[in-house]
Amino acid sequence: LDKLTYSGNMMYLSALSASPLHRFVQGDIGDAALVGGLLEDFRPDAIVNFAAESHVDRSILDPEPFTRTNVMGLCALLQTTLCWFKTLPPAEAAAFRFLHISTDEVFGALRPDDPAFTEQTPYAPNSPYSASKAAGDHFVRAYHETYGLPTLLTNCSNNYGPRQFPEKLIPLTLLRAKVGQTLPIYGRGDNIRDWLHVEDHCAALELVLCRGRLGQTYNIGGRAERRNLDVVKDICAVLDELSPSPAGPHAALIRFVPDRPGHDFRYAVDPSKLEKELDWRRKFTFEQGLRDTIRWYLDNPAWIESAQSGEYRSWTAEQYK
Ligand code: TYD
Repeated sequence: LDKLTYSGNMMYLSALSASPLHRFVQGDIGDAALVGGLLEDFRPDAIVNFAAESHVDRSILDPEPFTRTNVMGLCALLQTTLCWFKTLPPAEAAAFRFLHISTDEVFGALRPDDPAFTEQTPYAPNSPYSASKAAGDHFVRAYHETYGLPTLLTNCSNNYGPRQFPEKLIPLTLLRAKVGQTLPIYGRGDNIRDWLHVEDHCAALELVLCRGRLGQTYNIGGRAERRNLDVVKDICAVLDELSPSPAGPHAALIRFVPDRPGHDFRYAVDPSKLEKELDWRRKFTFEQGLRDTIRWYLDNPAWIESAQSGEYRSWTAEQYK
């Protein structure tokens, strides 16, 4: 189920189009009539909710779509699911799971020497985006505690990998560098993020879905803290090697631009609980994952063309003017 907003695209699902195990439905998680009908038709074993507005810069410009989808949409999805869940025979109800995907940003910002976020870290969201995700997480918890909905919740660090929409730092940087555009770094580039390969993230989600304890939250981090400036320099170095520019090293395109308001200094996620309880280990080092990701974007120009639609062009023109 996908609303196909600005960042959605049927091309992302082309590999699944022939699979009998997959059915695509365009729609909104907040549409109770649609979701209720799908639950009746499909009788799912699980709901895995990735649906969210997720770009901090967009939330600063206009928080409204963030409350609409990440809070109200999620609440509608929880309520529709609960109504259906109550009609299930005991064996089906016992097997059903509602897995909600969230973010480390709900925990706020860390200082350089603070320990990484654990499942016990209090919520302290700083951006409209993270505030909307924090609110949503509280509702997931409440539906478990109050109504006994069998929920699971995960808080991941910054994802990267193939098919990421190019508003986020890594694809934005590499696609701009490839065509000789400047590379905007907010502030001094000292902010730190903990990078998680999307396939490592999904492997963790599968474990949580199959073996996680009901009502629990699990942190998923890549054990790969990097300064933004170093990430951008790494991308430039890999591009210099895989796709050298006649204009010289890509790092010459780096520009320091005014900082994001309320810019969280550092995120770091401690995945010890996931490692100990569910035996998860990340497969990708950041260096290997970044190289594979860059190669994927270089090999998929049609995907890039499709992702960089009119809406994307007007966003980047406005955001980076
Ligand atoms: P982003 O990919 O937007 O993820 P998040 O804000 O959820 O961490 O940004 C990652 C980091 O990169 C963040 O510290 C902001 C910084 N950044 C830039 O310096 N320049 C950019 O153009 C973008 C999009 C992000």
